Amino acid sequence: MVVAEHEGQPAGMTLNSFASVSLEPLLVLVSLGHGARTLDAVRRSGRFAVSMLRRGQRQVALDFAERGAPFPAGHVERAGDGQLVVRHALAELRCSVHGIVTAGDHDVVLGAVTAFSGGEGEPLVFHAGRFGHVAADAAAPAGFDAFLGEGIGW
Ligand SMILES: Cc1cc2nc3c(=O)[nH]c(=O)nc-3n(C[C@H](O)[C@H](O)[C@H](O)COP(=O)(O)O)c2cc1C
Repeated sequence: MVVAEHEGQPAGMTLNSFASVSLEPLLVLVSLGHGARTLDAVRRSGRFAVSMLRRGQRQVALDFAERGAPFPAGHVERAGDGQLVVRHALAELRCSVHGIVTAGDHDVVLGAVTAFSGGEGEPLVFHAGRFGHVAADAAAPAGFDAFLGEGIGW
């Protein structure tokens, strides 16, 4: 999950294109599709937060994956520095924008990590179009036609 806020307008989206990039300095990347409101908020505010969801937070992932839907404010809270993060997430990284590289129809946003917290637990997995632990659970994001056994991608 990525959440950003510009001039009081929050935006967030479910995301699996996350990777660690560098240890010194500590950099990560996320890849945000052109047209996503979150990308706009990240570009304008110059900062964003990445929250790693717990296995039990499938509904959070679904609520943030609906293009154009109202911001699901009940799922977030403010961290100490005022940034919005997902409530009860397994881990969170708060970042300032280090650089942006346009790559096809996405922007790859490099984030310099300004704060990190993490706890114990099992992460929510998205694999072959399904949420859960490997193939145990299954749910399709709203608006996607899918059935068990078929990858839906995003
Ligand atoms: C499991 C999952 C992973 C996703 N990963 C990405 C991603 O890495 N990058 C991206 O641009 N959209 C990704 N999406 C799609 C966005 O969450 C979705 O388009 C979102 O609604 C965009 O926000 P918007 O309403 O501001 O357009 C993913 C969706 C799902 C369900």
